[in-house]
Formats: sequence, C-alpha cells, structure tokens
Amino acid sequence: MAGGVTQTEYWNGEVGVRWARSQAVLDAMFVPLTEALFARAPLAPGDRVLDIGCGAGATTLEAARRIGPGGAVTGADISAPLLAVARSRVAAEAPGAAPVVFVEADVEQADLGHFENALSRFGVMFFSDSGRAFANLRRMLKPGGRLTFLCWRPLSENLWVSVPRDAVLPLLPEIPPPPQPDTPGPFRFADADPLVALLRGAGFASVTCDALDRDIVLGQGETDAAATATATHVSLDLGPNSHLVREAAPDLRMQAEAAVTEVLRRHAQGGTVSLRAACWLVQAG
Ligand SMILES: C[S@@+](CC[C@H](N)C(=O)[O-])C[C@H]1O[C@@H](n2cnc3c(N)ncnc32)[C@H](O)[C@@H]1O
Repeated sequence: MAGGVTQTEYWNGEVGVRWARSQAVLDAMFVPLTEALFARAPLAPGDRVLDIGCGAGATTLEAARRIGPGGAVTGADISAPLLAVARSRVAAEAPGAAPVVFVEADVEQADLGHFENALSRFGVMFFSDSGRAFANLRRMLKPGGRLTFLCWRPLSENLWVSVPRDAVLPLLPEIPPPPQPDTPGPFRFADADPLVALLRGAGFASVTCDALDRDIVLGQGETDAAATATATHVSLDLGPNSHLVREAAPDLRMQAEAAVTEVLRRHAQGGTVSLRAACWLVQAG
C-alpha cells in the first residue's frame, strides 16, 4: 500500500472497486475457510450478530441464513463500493433469513449496538489502533458474547500467496520492504502470541487461537491449462501481492505473468489449481 493512504481511502479506491468486481471469485475461493469460521462461531437462532469488515457481505448473509428471521445481522465496513455489492445481494441470497443492515462505519470507534456474536473473515487486520478496536468490539458484545474471526498466518505459510510472489520477486527491480510491525495489512496478526496478548489487553478473558490449514481453489477449468490461466489471473488481480505486478512496467508485467503461469501450472491437477491457505481461527469472549 502506498505510504500515507488511509484505510478508508485504500478500501474506497481502486482496491475496493476491484474486490467488489471480484466478489464471486473471492467468495468461491474462501469457501473452506468460511465453513470453518461458521463451524466455530456459536451462532444461535434469534442472535444479534455483527460482521466486522463485512466487505461484499458473504459472511453477513451466511450469518443471517443461519440465525433465521428472529435474529438480526449488521454488516459494517468502511468501503462504499463493497457495501454497494453487499446491499444488492440481500433480496436474492437471504430471503426469509434474519433482517440484515449494512452500515458504512469504522468498527474501531463506532457504536453499532449490542451483539451475542461478532465475527469476521479477514476484516480485523486493518485497524489503525488494534487495541482500541478490539476494546470497542468487546464493549459491543453482550455478557457471554463471542468474537470469532479468521486472520492470516505468515505469508511464507500461505502458499497461495508465496508461490506466485516468489515467482515474481526475482523479476522486480527492487524487492519490496517487509511491512513495519503492527501496521495495517493482511499478515499483521501472523504471530499468535502478540495477537492473544492484544485481545486480553482489550478485555477478553478467554482467547483461543487455532491454526487452520485448507487448500483453496485459485482456478478451475476444463483442462489444467485453462485452470492455470484462471489461477494466474486471480493471483495477479486479487492476491495480496498483486500490486507488485500491476505497478511494474508493461514488459515486466508480461514476464511476471509468464512466471506465475509457469509456477501455478505445477499445482494444476484434474482441472483445478489449489494451494494451501494458512489462517488463525480465533475466538475471544
Ligand atoms: C480483506 S477485506 C475482507 C472483506 C470480507 N470480510 C470478506 O471476507 O470478503 C477487509 C475488509 O475490512 C474492511 N475494513 C478495514 N478497516 C475497517 C474498519 N476500521 N472498520 C470497518 N471495516 C474495515 C475493508 O473495507 C474490507 O472490506
């Protein structure tokens, strides 16, 4: 991310628009992770649920389907383009489910009501002050309420990111510097110990942090070549390192695409390219 850009600018700019456009691809890719999140979140009929950094709303709508019409779900996000996609999905994807509201709000400071459950799929790593944000979330939970979320383990363990990244890095004129510790970004909570300490410091008495490994599908097709082409596109368009290639000169972009295609081809089998995703499945209460 370019220096000086706020998270609100980042998620309302080109990145938010690209994520909004690719909602279906991302949701399909994250299915095994989403299933694990909902297997852990103790949702019950009639609950009030907050989806933190809900993006295009897949998990908000899933929560609404699970808790049924007696409950209520709030999806909160700072990205107007993603919220627009989320709102457009409600009628078709959650008929007869709990009522859903999508609000444009910074969860770090907003007061959104009181909830039995707060959950998030990769929406908690971008706060400017994580301690303040988790304390705010703690305040919004009813007694006995639970915060359940997914975040990424280290980049090196996330082969869906590191495999294409390692193919591209040697081509770049400059290796990007590693992110500063405790700055917003997908791998901010890669280390479990500081994350657990942060949650305890925010007032959560009980915290569990379990490793979750799943193969996720980057591309599918009639042939391995077709699957590889899709996976290459997804990786270069949406992956956490896609900006490295997008910001490069055109000839370098072509070389990068060829390198990523070559490396992803090795992971294609039976018309599917899948690679390992490594997360923390965290619960705090
Ligand atoms: C990696 S995306 C995940 C989106 C969605 N949960 C999903 O799984 O598709 C991170 C999301 O967090 C949102 N976000 C970042 N900081 C936020 C904040 N302070 N309050 C609310 N949402 C935030 C972003 O706008 C973005 O939609």
